[in-house]
Amino acid sequence: MIEFKNVSKVYENGSVALDDVCLNIHDGEFVLVCGHSGAGKSTLFKLLTHEVVPDSGSVIVDEYEVTKMRRSRIPKLRRKLGVVFQDFRLLPNKTVAENIAFALEVIEEKPKVIKEKVAHVLELVGLTDKANDLPEDLSGGEQQRVAIARAIVNRPTVLIADEPTGNLDPTTSKDIVDLFKHINDFGTTVVMITHNMDIVTYLNKRVIELKDGRIQSDNMRGAEFNEA
Ligand SMILES: Nc1ncnc2c1ncn2[C@@H]1O[C@H](COP(=O)(O)OP(=O)(O)OP(=O)(O)O)[C@@H](O)[C@H]1O
Ligand SMILES: [Mg+2]
Repeated sequence: MIEFKNVSKVYENGSVALDDVCLNIHDGEFVLVCGHSGAGKSTLFKLLTHEVVPDSGSVIVDEYEVTKMRRSRIPKLRRKLGVVFQDFRLLPNKTVAENIAFALEVIEEKPKVIKEKVAHVLELVGLTDKANDLPEDLSGGEQQRVAIARAIVNRPTVLIADEPTGNLDPTTSKDIVDLFKHINDFGTTVVMITHNMDIVTYLNKRVIELKDGRIQSDNMRGAEFNEA
């Protein structure tokens, strides 16, 4: 579960990024976060990963109170969260398989397990035949699939994505969104930031709209989870 309790964040230059935000996201939900440029979407994302700390309020991810965590525990938190960005952020000198394997090497997974897990996620994202290619030899959509594979290979409970389709054409974007849906179907909570209203309409999921750092609307499709 993800919970924001009265979270506010003002950057050093005085920009109010989030202003008293409260929200709950239940396990297994698929939530879209939208809103105009500067609304606070990426700040919300960075609060989850502890890249940004709030001025007040608390952010909770499962058993972790992110805001009060000791630095030494941040790697444990990050293992719960798979992260995907607009610009893919792949390592250019590593192959597709090596990029994904790297996420497991840093947590000292056994080579045999790494091999199995990499093969499994490559199949899931449909890139088995590109395993030995370098990122530069792939299309944008394929690169984003690699980034998604890397994000989920550790089986995070939550997959968070900041404008994952921002650099992709509409058809490729739809494929990527379908992949997120597929991952959500396996039980992973998905929080996806998007500007794209076509995606919002296509997905027909819970939408949290931020405006000037506050929640402007939340259609609370998540309420269904309370009743279940
Ligand atoms: N590192 C920073 N230092 C100072 N101000 C910042 C910083 N990061 C963001 N801001 C400001 O905080 C506000 C919210 O920014 P944020 O990046 O969260 O918005 P966003 O909704 O992700 O926008 P976009 O759609 O353009 O990505 C903006 O006014 C922005 O200028
Ligand atoms: Mg942003």
